[in-house]
Amino acid sequence: MANTSTESMPVTTDNAAAGPQDMFNRELETYRRIVGANLMFHQDVYRLLRELLVEQAPASFRFLDVACGDASASAAMLKTMEIGSYVGIDLSEASLQLAARELEGLPCSVELRCCDFVQAMAIWSEPVDVIWIGMSLHHLPTAAKARLMRNAHRALGGMGLFAIWEPALFEGEDRAAWLARFSKLRDEWSAISDEEFASMERHMLLADFPETVDTWLGMGRDAGFSHAEEIFMMPNRMGRVFRYWD
Ligand SMILES: C[S@@+](CC[C@H](N)C(=O)[O-])C[C@H]1O[C@@H](n2cnc3c(N)ncnc32)[C@H](O)[C@@H]1O
Repeated sequence: MANTSTESMPVTTDNAAAGPQDMFNRELETYRRIVGANLMFHQDVYRLLRELLVEQAPASFRFLDVACGDASASAAMLKTMEIGSYVGIDLSEASLQLAARELEGLPCSVELRCCDFVQAMAIWSEPVDVIWIGMSLHHLPTAAKARLMRNAHRALGGMGLFAIWEPALFEGEDRAAWLARFSKLRDEWSAISDEEFASMERHMLLADFPETVDTWLGMGRDAGFSHAEEIFMMPNRMGRVFRYWD
């Protein structure tokens, strides 16, 4: 049974303000339609994550889902595995309420925390084997991304797996060009309306700060991981999956 304390938690100031979190609160249904139509390739990415866990995670692994959102993709994957424990953290209370339902039936302890992952990771002290961040670290500026990766390395104690799925710039590309590349995908994103596509563009303009592949890999090595590797590129080439381990 999921141990969720989200019902009693106050909605944070970040959630209440108009801004980067709108997509995961008042426009959450749009994000869920995008995921449901596999426009961001969740099915491919989480299939790959499953293979990674089979290959690299210990038996009964303890899984930390940083910025878990509604956890729909994580839950579907983890229900097919032997997981020891699950903790999901996210700022969006609306997402966590859905996550609690998605994670019902996962045969391990499940805990959902409504909090800022930057603060949570800065003081993380509970044992964990796998830290996964799906499409969320890019909300931070570069120095804060690097700090979070150092905190992830410390939290894993030199023994676990850290994996991220994040937007990536081509070498020499800037953020404006990356955003322009997304705008050209309108035809491929026909499963959502013009208004919803405009919401996504607005969200990305406000909140998405991609890095080059070299920067993503270098930040992991600088954080202390002995190994850093790109393992997947989204077919639309907007983002990639990286893994880091010792
Ligand atoms: C694009 S969604 C990704 C959700 C899920 N990981 C997935 O793979 O679909 C980004 C999530 O990050 C959360 N988020 C963004 N900034 C955050 C922060 N500082 N602390 C906690 N959660 C955050 C949002 O609320 C949202 O649920």
